[in-house]
Amino acid sequence: MNSKSFFVKSYGCQMNVYDSEKITSILENQGMVEKREMNNADIVVFNTCNIRDKAAHKVYSDIGRVTKLNKNKTIAVVGCVAQAENSEMFNKNNNIDIILGSQSYHLLPQMIKDNEEQKEKLINTDFIINEKFDYINEEKKSKGVSSFITIQEGCDKFCSFCVVPFTRGPEYSRHFNDIKREAESMSAKGASEIVLLGQNVNAYNYIDQGKRQQLSYLINLISEIDEVKRIRYTTSHPINMTDELIELHSQNKKLMPFLHLPVQSGSDQILKKMNRKYDSKYYREIIEKLKKSNPDIEISSDFIIGYPGETEKDFNETLKLVEEVKFTQSYSFIYSERPGTKSSSEVDEISLSVKKERLSILQDKLKDIQLKYNNSFCNRNVKVLVENQSASNPKYFFGRTPYMQSVYLESQLVKIGEEMDVKITSCNHKSLYGIA
Ligand code: SAH
Ligand code: SF4
Ligand code: F3S
Repeated sequence: MNSKSFFVKSYGCQMNVYDSEKITSILENQGMVEKREMNNADIVVFNTCNIRDKAAHKVYSDIGRVTKLNKNKTIAVVGCVAQAENSEMFNKNNNIDIILGSQSYHLLPQMIKDNEEQKEKLINTDFIINEKFDYINEEKKSKGVSSFITIQEGCDKFCSFCVVPFTRGPEYSRHFNDIKREAESMSAKGASEIVLLGQNVNAYNYIDQGKRQQLSYLINLISEIDEVKRIRYTTSHPINMTDELIELHSQNKKLMPFLHLPVQSGSDQILKKMNRKYDSKYYREIIEKLKKSNPDIEISSDFIIGYPGETEKDFNETLKLVEEVKFTQSYSFIYSERPGTKSSSEVDEISLSVKKERLSILQDKLKDIQLKYNNSFCNRNVKVLVENQSASNPKYFFGRTPYMQSVYLESQLVKIGEEMDVKITSCNHKSLYGIA
């Protein structure tokens, strides 16, 4: 048993957060105690993200800050930057003690112990994917009403701008029975909503006794759990939206009518350069099929602005697609050149001011659509899954609609984990406000 204290910081996507929860459980099972403040912990675990330049750099300034106050801490860098930059990280910051890639978190307790005893820097960035899921059986602590479960990891798509195939390795899916067991355990601890996670979640497939089971099978399996009221899955790739999965949106009532389906760009020229493997016509057809299957469905997306070679015309095609699909929530980013990716060898001629201007035009448009959509809920009742209560004022609660909108509501009779009818009284582009 190790009685030291630790702190884990997440920098990245939902899977990064899920991994941090697992790391917390692994360390707690060794007798270590989680601290709320980084500065109070003996061991600081930085669970890094390499997706954009800014995210990757942040870890170095954080290490600088925490080691300036106390040189005796054990600093472990894990996750996607660790996987990508490898031992180079030791050269960039001499205070790092442990570097551990995204597939071997189960080795962390032993590495912490070895580092203490041998006073030596340690590194492991091997890719042995199935091992990760074999070893990381530790149950996560209950994290509330909406819980993530990783069902698929890695990516074989190699979009030309993206580091994920290098930081997470090839596509790998977990056995559906293991996933169901995890969902049962989470729901027994109060999770009414299960969010299935994967870098290409809809590429999920597991061959059991010669039979290939896909995401729709898994969703139906999880919906058999009575306590699970809502199911979501993210992130989907357009080319893996099978007809069966699309149809499931009309059949499975627990499956929420909201889908994150990143398009990245509305221009065929750019989509081709990005190696996205679809064109804008194909994307529009998928949306059409989804709306036909379930007319209530709403879509969110990610966009990359200023990809090398993006012209004004390309950008306008993205705006046109946004107008048509009316994405109700979205994330948009300026293209960030990432080492080792195919597009890092492209000449990036677009000036930063043009990129910033395009991003702001796109974001204004997205905001406008989102506000109009949210406004359409005013004076209507909507089903909200209540997730938590305000710490400062117990009359106020937070929850989400089926379409992932945040709702702040006032009520005396709310039960956390229950779906309830909420009358929406006002809104802005980000949130709805109501009473129940
Ligand atoms: N697998 C998902 C996305 C994972 S990364 C998909 O294929 O859609 C999350 C988002 O980060 C991407 O959708 C993309 O919009 C953005 N992103 C990835 N690499 C980027 C880069 N080099 N520069 C800017 N944004 C990037
Ligand atoms: Fe990255 Fe493309 Fe894979 Fe998504 S599909 S993780 S954007 S390479
Ligand atoms: Fe970042 Fe790795 Fe997720 S690069 S977005 S933490 S898969």
